Amino acid sequence: MPIGNIVILGCGGYIGSHLLDRLLREPGNKIFGWDLEHRKIEHHLGNPALNFEESNIGSTYARQRLEEQVASADVVINLAAICNPAEYNTEPLRVLDANLFDLQPVLRMCAEQRKWLIHFSTSEIYGRTISSYLPDESFDDPDLYVLKEDETPLIMGPIRNQRWTYAAAKQVVERLVYAYHRERGMPFTVIRPLNFFGPRMDYLPGHDGDGVPRVLASFMAALIDRKPLQLVDGGWARRTIVSIDDAMDAVMAVLQQPERSQNQFFNVGNPDNEVTVRELAELMRTVYAEITDDKTYLEHPIHDVSAADFYGAGYEDCDRRMPSIEKAKALLGWTPRKSLRTTLQETMRAYHETYVVQAAASGAPAEATGPAVSSEEAR
Ligand code: NAD
Ligand code: UGA
Repeated sequence: MPIGNIVILGCGGYIGSHLLDRLLREPGNKIFGWDLEHRKIEHHLGNPALNFEESNIGSTYARQRLEEQVASADVVINLAAICNPAEYNTEPLRVLDANLFDLQPVLRMCAEQRKWLIHFSTSEIYGRTISSYLPDESFDDPDLYVLKEDETPLIMGPIRNQRWTYAAAKQVVERLVYAYHRERGMPFTVIRPLNFFGPRMDYLPGHDGDGVPRVLASFMAALIDRKPLQLVDGGWARRTIVSIDDAMDAVMAVLQQPERSQNQFFNVGNPDNEVTVRELAELMRTVYAEITDDKTYLEHPIHDVSAADFYGAGYEDCDRRMPSIEKAKALLGWTPRKSLRTTLQETMRAYHETYVVQAAASGAPAEATGPAVSSEEAR
């Protein structure tokens, strides 16, 4: 069933590109998409069902156009963000602008016109778990670490730890969205993604971008370039990883069932796929050894690096992100299905195809050869 007229802010990013793949399969959807870039959605740009504007949503031009588009929309989806942890403590003002101030006019438009806003927030708004502040024996008490949408307190570190600029901005947006709902009658859905893994996340440094992308792309680039995987603070932090395909099923369930999804906050993650980052690094090299049929990857070097050296001052990690997904199961009828191994196999195969096989076919230098270099050299 088509959804209708859909405004999507940040439609050219990782999640946006997968969402367009789903929405443009369905005849009858008309999409008004905005982003600063189009590389990941190039395959959709000729589609007459997509009206794409490559522009900053904070510009005067965008605000004027968006007024009209929001008026005709059945739903407005916000994905626009700076959501790379390497930038939270190094470019906090940009992070606050992109994740909070640039969005405020659009929130106001949705509220004034009582349009359904689906806002992509983050599990980072939970901050750190209660158990992380208590003695070790509290570690295994689910009451102290399972993240429940409408119950769990939101615990962030001190202001000097600028890692929390992103989470703080996202929390204020959630509070604004909820206030617009309560005081102005704006329908909303908040989605809190927990580490969606799939093709097209970020960029691979030295291949199609520069800097430090999120962990999937960081480890993928290191494997392809035969550089050591860099493990921050020993890789003690835990993440639950959900396949982008499962995650998109959840988003479609939200869109197709407004009577069940409106005015709710949903975690979208896979509690069965919890790993430490060290376990993730080890599993990724094993899976890559299978994909490349190259056993040397089984011993691919993993180097420890301190958070201060890797991210700079002001970084502090989220210790554990274990979502309760009971609400999504009960209200949306959604359950994630893909195991961590399957998710990594599918995702890493896609990266290998793009950055090694296709790059080689086009003559681009995809893979560095020779011995692995030290972590200092790799940075
Ligand atoms: P992404 O960085 O790939 O996509 C965000 C897009 O927003 C980018 O393409 C960027 O160019 C665009 N953008 C940023 N500021 C803009 C502006 N002012 N005007 C126009 N476009 C702008 O990120 P993603 O992984 O696709 O994440 C999408 C949303 O989901 C974000 O809100 C993010 O915080 C949230 N999220 C994602 C994950 C995940 O696992 N990927 C996890 C938690 C939260
Ligand atoms: C990220 C971002 O904040 C958001 O995109 C999003 O809100 C959130 O994921 C999410 O998906 O829910 P985080 O998981 O901390 O947060 O970011 P990653 O860069 O993917 O890092 C995950 C873990 O790997 C962290 O412990 C980090 O220190 C570690 N890491 C990262 C490494 O050990 N080595 C690396 O090369 C990169």
